[in-house]
Amino acid sequence: MDLLTELESLIPELQKGLDQASSLQDMEALRVDFLGRRGRLARIMAHLPEAEPAARPLLGQTANKVKDGLVGLFEQRKTALEKAAEAEELARFDAGLPGRTPQIGSLHPITLVTEEICSVFRQLGYSVVSGPEVETEYHNFEALNIPREHPARDMQDTLYVSDGVLLRTHTSPLQVRTMLSQKPPVAVVAPGRVYRRDSDITHTPMFHQVEGLLVDKHVTMADLRGTLTAFMRSVFGSDTKIRFRPSFFPFTEPSAEADISCCMCGGKGHDHDGTVCRVCKGTGWLEILGCGMVDPAVFEAVGYDPEAYTGFAFGLGVERIAMLKYGIGDLRMFFENDMRFLTQFA
Ligand code: FA5
Ligand code: MG
Repeated sequence: MDLLTELESLIPELQKGLDQASSLQDMEALRVDFLGRRGRLARIMAHLPEAEPAARPLLGQTANKVKDGLVGLFEQRKTALEKAAEAEELARFDAGLPGRTPQIGSLHPITLVTEEICSVFRQLGYSVVSGPEVETEYHNFEALNIPREHPARDMQDTLYVSDGVLLRTHTSPLQVRTMLSQKPPVAVVAPGRVYRRDSDITHTPMFHQVEGLLVDKHVTMADLRGTLTAFMRSVFGSDTKIRFRPSFFPFTEPSAEADISCCMCGGKGHDHDGTVCRVCKGTGWLEILGCGMVDPAVFEAVGYDPEAYTGFAFGLGVERIAMLKYGIGDLRMFFENDMRFLTQFA
């Protein structure tokens, strides 16, 4: 057979091979056989120098045409096989199968409640401020009229970092920081973590408070009561039972604490078979905040004129509010990171 015939026979032979090829692997074998570096085309071309010089141009042209032809045939068949493979894949794919739902995170109930509290006060015209969790004794105690010998400064309650530096035991140092940096009138709320050496079903060593402070001319205890009542109704609903009890804080005078009816026993103080309620310890009430009129001694410490200004302050326990709002019996659940608990707030 002369080279020209051999070259021209490659096309029908490949066509035959391709007709029988049923997979992409078969195709690859054919490609190597016909077009590979030592394939049939290459082997024929190796004989080109032996041909008559006059016949070479035609042989060269034919070789190029055959090569293009082979490549074209391949592409065609390959596309067809790929389409078939895709169709087969699609036929196996069940579009009716339910998908895997991605797990969507949710905000922690403490975050949700903190945001709700701040949003109520924002609507009342307060701004939201924050401050350090590692505080000085001065901001946490001294400027708040809590002298050295006060029991709140006892190592029992306070976690000290070093001499004169502690983990804030309440958000009240934000009252001091705000008044030191702003002139009256002020209306702020300050959410944040606080730390105490305390642990049982209504106390954890780290918990959250939201501090509130309003200072202006002619602010009275009636404003305090009205503001907090409006706040509690907004969070718990208009028929919520609230009570104010006289109390004592070194930085407010007069002072009060506010309670709300217990979420666990519905305010009865015991469950249906008479067992004393663990959450309110039988009282039917749960303390959620401390408050009072800013003590003139605090105004003096921060350089406000106690003759010209009056104000009220309060400190809310966020966990207590979350417990009441969601009917949660044990405060520690907030910090155990149990997904079954946390995902309920999504
Ligand atoms: C204070 O911390 C005062 N700074 C509040 C205050 C602010 C009074 C401004 C006057 C003016 P008290 O220690 O009572 O007060 O805490 C306030 C609230 O935090 C409590 O009513 C309670 O809801 C919550 N709380 C207190 N201790 C814990 C604890 N260990 N775990 C969870 N919540 C707590
Ligand atoms: Mg208290």
